[in-house]
Amino acid sequence: MAGVQNHRLALAVCQAGALGSLPAAMLSPEVLHTELQALKAATSAPFNVNFFCHTTPPPNPEREATWHQALTPYYRELALDPDNIPSGLGRVPFGHDSADVLEAFRPAVVSFHFGLPAPDLLARVKSWGSLVLSSATTVQEALWLQAQGADAVIAQGLEAGGHRGMFLTEDLSTQMGTFALLPQIVQAVRVPVIAAGGIATAQGVAAARQLGASGVQIGTAYLCSHEATTSALHRAALQSPAAQHTALTRLFSGRPARGIVNRVMRELGPLCEKAPEFPMATAGMAPLRAAAEALGRTDFSPLWSGQNAAGARSLSAADITRDLAQGWHTQP
Ligand SMILES: Cc1cc2nc3c(=O)[nH]c(=O)nc-3n(C[C@H](O)[C@H](O)[C@H](O)COP(=O)(O)O)c2cc1C
Repeated sequence: MAGVQNHRLALAVCQAGALGSLPAAMLSPEVLHTELQALKAATSAPFNVNFFCHTTPPPNPEREATWHQALTPYYRELALDPDNIPSGLGRVPFGHDSADVLEAFRPAVVSFHFGLPAPDLLARVKSWGSLVLSSATTVQEALWLQAQGADAVIAQGLEAGGHRGMFLTEDLSTQMGTFALLPQIVQAVRVPVIAAGGIATAQGVAAARQLGASGVQIGTAYLCSHEATTSALHRAALQSPAAQHTALTRLFSGRPARGIVNRVMRELGPLCEKAPEFPMATAGMAPLRAAAEALGRTDFSPLWSGQNAAGARSLSAADITRDLAQGWHTQP
């Protein structure tokens, strides 16, 4: 989960016997190296390293100006100079520089969001023996991933927190809930299917297994774990009644991602067309988030959460993992 964890959460999950993931979408190659070194030094257990593999869009000054204009009243409200907002990408796709770092560590699993990297890069990852996973949000995406050589497919239902991994379509009406999507993907592909989205209890894990999942991928349930780097404001939102109202929003990055509804989502509309393409929306929102959070407000924060935040408990990641794993061993 990029932005809310580092190797410590991955390590705790690995040490409890599950497959911990290190999110690398927002890490420079140097930081990735440091994180991998720390993980490898602490465990010989297998782990997953996760990357985004979007295509960075060409600059679109007109769209960026529209976005800047939409945010300007907020800049003024928070005493930020609208003419002095730093630009930047925030997230870079998987490339050969990250692969160079990864190669020295040869993680057991490498997973991707938004499809798969270009064939030469994918071949590189597979050449050193990593198993490759990626998220599918439709049956078509699952079939595409299988055809391109994914070793397993993550069926990411509409309930899931954070970014939707959708990559063959931008049409949100194609997106299904986990327990509608999972059995359809299981039926369509030969590779193992991992269920993701809304699973936050042992019973949820057992239900996913009964519907044919070969594993589960869990995000939101770990957001309040001791090892996550989730901010205090985000944790408080997750454990408040506000967490019962999430929506898909483009406002924080440019691609639909699920988070708790907050002021900017209410005022601009969560899918506001003015937000530029992924990942260009991030830079404009970042100073607003920082300024508001300094005042103790989440008006401009991406409060990523799945629809089922009830399982987001303040426990150690090992306890959360062991609780959830009990569902895997329950005989239906
Ligand atoms: C805060 C947050 C950040 C996430 N970041 C990533 C990411 O960097 N890469 C990725 O593949 N999925 C990411 N996801 C999605 C998860 O991999 C997974 O699909 C989702 O959490 C499952 O649904 P759940 O949140 O209901 O458990 C993120 C989810 C959350 C909640």
